[in-house]
Amino acid sequence: MFSWFRQNGKHSNGSTPKEVERKVVIDIHDITKMYKMGDIEVHALRGVSLQIHEGEFLSIMGPSGSGKSTLMNILGCLDQPTNGSYFLDGQDVSKLSERDLARVRNKKIGFVFQSFNLLKRTTAVRQVELPLVYAGVTGRGKRAKTALESVGLGQRLDHLPSELSGGQQQRVAIARALVNEPAMILADEPTGNLDSRSGTEVMQIFQRLNREQGITTIFVTHDPWIARHTQRVIMLRDGKIIADREIANPLIAGENERPSEAAEMEGLFKEAYYGGAKEEYT
Ligand SMILES: Nc1ncnc2c1ncn2[C@@H]1O[C@H](COP(=O)(O)OP(=O)(O)OP(=O)(O)O)[C@@H](O)[C@H]1O
Ligand SMILES: [Mg+2]
Repeated sequence: MFSWFRQNGKHSNGSTPKEVERKVVIDIHDITKMYKMGDIEVHALRGVSLQIHEGEFLSIMGPSGSGKSTLMNILGCLDQPTNGSYFLDGQDVSKLSERDLARVRNKKIGFVFQSFNLLKRTTAVRQVELPLVYAGVTGRGKRAKTALESVGLGQRLDHLPSELSGGQQQRVAIARALVNEPAMILADEPTGNLDSRSGTEVMQIFQRLNREQGITTIFVTHDPWIARHTQRVIMLRDGKIIADREIANPLIAGENERPSEAAEMEGLFKEAYYGGAKEEYT
């Protein structure tokens, strides 16, 4: 049934992927993150090295507690590593002050969260204007409107979150992440709270943004179906990368039915990323 699989991310038709000279936007080397809890040291990341190119669309997977959010927070300049280096767009950001980090975030990174994080009493267009207020940009209303139109919400500008569906709320959050024209979008379980139809719509938007505007996009997800729609999957376990695979043929959102059986879903995941070795990800 899942004939579009390529085992281990390799192209099965003998062709090699095009070698395109692409800029490295994220370059981290041997990053560790240690939290001190009283006398106990929690090693959330234990030496992660990773390069991500401009325009890539990838997902980070792994069991609960494996360090996904920790890594995402570091990539998003919300937190800093204990050790190791992080170059973002050529700039060493691993030792910046809080203030400079905030500036980098505002300029280069858009965030989308599982729980939307919208303000309750604020209309869609005002929500999207907020990052522009912080950035001190003029012409905010027009830019916010354009961003909302680009996610199909041109008719919902004055709606409050309570007057929008979950999928629409997440699209407001995407518009808010986009309005500053960031170089990259980080999304932690962006479809986690959505029904499958809204999830598909949101995925379609991310795929289109990535395709048309070349926005580097990184998802954290527990959902193999979501990961199967991205171009590369990085698997974490116990604070380390245990697999990093290219997906030769990412699914296009809306073109395939999501497998209804858990076993099929498991098969989809195993075949696509692990060539059948189940114990690797349980
Ligand atoms: N602020 C913190 N202080 C102390 N320990 C932390 C902190 N944040 C995370 N940890 C610990 O670091 C490890 C990695 O946590 P992290 O939140 O990155 O996991 P995760 O992969 O995102 O998990 P989940 O899938 O449940 O969201 C865990 O053992 C966690 O308990
Ligand atoms: Mg997490």
